[in-house]
Amino acid sequence: METFLKGFLLLSAIILTLSSTASGQLTQLRFSILEEQSPFTYVGNVAEASNIQANRSQNEIARLRYQILTQVNPNTALFVINQFTGRLESAVVLDREDLCQSSPQCILGIDVAVFMQDEANPTQLTDLIVAFQVNVELRDMNDNSPTFPEQTITVEFPESSSIGFEVLTSTARDDDGGDLNSVQTYEFLNSDDTFDLQVLRNTDGSEFLAIVLNKTLDRELKEDYQLTIVARDGGNPSRTGSVNVNILVGDANDNRPVFLRNPYNVTFPENQPVGSVILTVSAIDSDDGQNAHITYKFGSSSRSQLFLINSTSGEISLRSALDYEISQQREFSIVVEAEDGGDPLMASQVLVNVKLYDVNDNAPQININLPPGGVDVSEDADSGYYIANVFVYDIDSGENGTVTCSVENEKFTLVKFSKDIYKINLQSSLDREQAEKHNVTVVCSDEGVPRMTNRTFFTINVKDVNDNFPVFSQTRYNVSIEENNSIGDVVSTISAHDNDAGENGRVTYRLLDRTDYFSINPGSGIITANVVFDRENITSVFLRVIASDNGDDSARFTSTANVTVFISDENDETPQFHSDSYIFNVLENQPLSTVIGNVSAYDKDVGANGDFTFSIEDGFTRFFEIDNDGKVRARLSLDRESRQEYSFEIFVTDKGVRKDLDPRLSPCTLRTRTIMFP
Ligand SMILES: *[C@@H]1O[C@H](CO)[C@@H](O)[C@H](O)[C@H]1NC(C)=O
Ligand SMILES: *[C@@H]1O[C@H](CO)[C@@H](O)[C@H](O)[C@H]1NC(C)=O
Ligand SMILES: *[C@@H]1O[C@H](CO)[C@@H](O)[C@H](O)[C@H]1NC(C)=O
Ligand SMILES: *[C@@H]1O[C@H](CO)[C@@H](O)[C@H](O)[C@H]1NC(C)=O
Ligand SMILES: *[C@@H]1O[C@H](CO)[C@@H](O)[C@H](O)[C@H]1NC(C)=O
Ligand SMILES: *[C@@H]1O[C@H](CO)[C@@H](O)[C@H](O)[C@H]1NC(C)=O
Ligand SMILES: *[C@@H]1O[C@H](CO)[C@@H](O)[C@H](O)[C@H]1NC(C)=O
Ligand SMILES: *[C@@H]1O[C@H](CO)[C@@H](O)[C@H](O)[C@H]1NC(C)=O
Ligand SMILES: *[C@@H]1O[C@H](CO)[C@@H](O)[C@H](O)[C@H]1NC(C)=O
Ligand SMILES: *[C@@H]1O[C@H](CO)[C@@H](O)[C@H](O)[C@H]1NC(C)=O
Ligand SMILES: *[C@@H]1O[C@H](CO)[C@@H](O)[C@H](O)[C@H]1NC(C)=O
Ligand SMILES: *[C@@H]1O[C@H](CO)[C@@H](O)[C@H](O)[C@H]1NC(C)=O
Repeated sequence: METFLKGFLLLSAIILTLSSTASGQLTQLRFSILEEQSPFTYVGNVAEASNIQANRSQNEIARLRYQILTQVNPNTALFVINQFTGRLESAVVLDREDLCQSSPQCILGIDVAVFMQDEANPTQLTDLIVAFQVNVELRDMNDNSPTFPEQTITVEFPESSSIGFEVLTSTARDDDGGDLNSVQTYEFLNSDDTFDLQVLRNTDGSEFLAIVLNKTLDRELKEDYQLTIVARDGGNPSRTGSVNVNILVGDANDNRPVFLRNPYNVTFPENQPVGSVILTVSAIDSDDGQNAHITYKFGSSSRSQLFLINSTSGEISLRSALDYEISQQREFSIVVEAEDGGDPLMASQVLVNVKLYDVNDNAPQININLPPGGVDVSEDADSGYYIANVFVYDIDSGENGTVTCSVENEKFTLVKFSKDIYKINLQSSLDREQAEKHNVTVVCSDEGVPRMTNRTFFTINVKDVNDNFPVFSQTRYNVSIEENNSIGDVVSTISAHDNDAGENGRVTYRLLDRTDYFSINPGSGIITANVVFDRENITSVFLRVIASDNGDDSARFTSTANVTVFISDENDETPQFHSDSYIFNVLENQPLSTVIGNVSAYDKDVGANGDFTFSIEDGFTRFFEIDNDGKVRARLSLDRESRQEYSFEIFVTDKGVRKDLDPRLSPCTLRTRTIMFP
């Protein structure tokens, strides 16, 4: 984690140097804070520094919300912001040495977004208004002394060395990074002018201390020098550190090993495997035998966790994996020494400049800032409606870290807000009745070779709006009920369906007409009779049913269905003769089957219930017959002399059945008396 933090810092610094108002870059705000302060120390106020409240109404100002964007950026853990006021505070004790080592500048970058809270729906952040890159400079306190890696070092100068000959050793380290609190000067404590000190600064910022010969040496005069180097930082008061230097004067007759190149430069990709050889250094010694047997090692200042050197072959190999993105350093200068096997031994130094370069080994990280409470989008939201923010982050550099995103769902669009921030907006309106949920996939790719792609998705729940009518299963209903019904008998059930959800889709029924005759259950749509119907009085009833949903009062939808209730017939009417009695006068001696009279009847029922037949009283069927039309005929020639008068009954019987009686036995029958005078 620590290395990761450090790596990110470097990156922040790089972003800083790139910054300008060039399109896509975030507006920058700069604050500064002294290191080692207790948590919740005031850092700055984003609202004030950005002047975001200017030209806004009190209402709008009250709805501004400040958030630190939780990207992979580890600096986000170092600060807290008050979401209402924009006041930025430290979250922890910030130790500059821990966060920035001894870099001259310690800038902690975080991104802060400002949202406008929705007036209607306070749990929902509406729109991202602006995002800032906030750079917090962590100022140093001079709380560290310069220290040398070793307490004593031994170096050798050949007796024959010319003035200006130098031997490299390591500088002191001061964990304070600020310009003034870092090491400013080196000096000999007890100099006799034989040696001078010089600081060599490499392109990567690393430094070496060179002990430079200022006077010719004479081994016979003085074989060794015991000196002390003091390093002093620029603090007030300044702090110091020292190292004892044992300088040996070598024998002039030996030859020193000579490196084939000086310096060595090597570059290699960050994904170089551990153990692989990145460079082979080589020195030659013009001596013979043991004196020319060369061994290689790192100079005292260059003992490294990162590299290994093969003492016989001079091969420098990778000791631990290097990651361009998280390593603090991308350039290294190391000192390699070659020693011969002589006694006293002779050594040479060479500088090896190592440079790490980026490969596209990181996929973009996608961070979607979902409003608290989930992503509910109303189906009546207009196109362009703001849904969420997408923050992308690719730690690689250059085109390897340049990211473009798209959204895989034609209902949504991704609108670029700044270099690494997109807004997801609604492209076309949603229909909950078509899809209740949408899976929105965001795909981001960098422009490196090979291209690295990452994707993430989230779900949008479509909130219902009352936009559907109840629809009846039929627009017209023909239903029936038998007459002589009971009150409360079910006539029919009608139903309507509303595609909306919840109350917007719950249907309630009521009758528009004929509430005297019928009732309807508001929930079930069951129609029942309020009265006992008599088909002979009413044959059908027309009524209208209204189905209404239960959406908000102001926006309910209704539909109407026409219902015709037919009263169906029951055999409840007895056939009736038109006359109580009939008298026929007929002449005697008429031919057989002469119609001698007719009767007529009616039945108010319909169909079989209203259709009827006639019959003649038992005992008279010998004399008379009657057909279905009521025509009465004599079956024999009547003779007035033998009988003057026949008096008998004719029955009329309908063809229906009576529900209340045994249908096989009792059709509805009426009798009439017919008197006949031949
Ligand atoms: C506020 O509005 C005035 C006049 O419209 C404009 O000149 C000024 O730049 C605005 N200030 C900000 C901070 O937007
Ligand atoms: C180097 O030697 C010269 C005289 O040769 C002397 O003036 C000078 O001070 C010396 N420098 C140091 C740093 O000792
Ligand atoms: C080696 O690198 C150094 C600095 O990194 C540079 O000054 C020098 O010119 C380079 N030499 C060669 C031969 O590339
Ligand atoms: C160093 O290099 C020599 C010669 O290439 C080889 O024989 C030896 O095994 C190497 N040593 C190590 C520790 O790799
Ligand atoms: C991007 O990565 C490729 C290898 O994947 C590398 O060759 C290239 O130099 C990198 N580009 C940058 C700008 O670092
Ligand atoms: C992106 O890819 C990395 C691995 O390359 C993975 O750790 C991460 O979870 C992926 N997803 C997002 C949304 O960043
Ligand atoms: C959403 O889409 C992603 C890939 O595009 C898929 O992995 C995931 O299962 C989907 N989720 C749902 C709920 O459909
Ligand atoms: C309902 O009855 C009316 C009148 O008898 C008739 O015209 C219509 O076709 C019937 N409709 C249906 C759907 O049965
Ligand atoms: C016949 O129906 C009418 C209404 O249509 C009603 O007023 C009347 O009382 C009914 N008559 C009988 C005998 O039921
Ligand atoms: C329902 O009845 C009304 C008259 O009461 C009529 O105007 C309308 O057209 C009818 N609707 C249908 C679908 O038959
Ligand atoms: C009418 O219904 C009642 C009770 O259901 C029954 O007693 C009566 O006989 C019925 N009348 C006819 C004509 O069906
Ligand atoms: C049936 O009788 C009526 C009088 O009751 C008479 O007017 C009519 O003509 C008769 N019809 C036939 C076909 O005899």
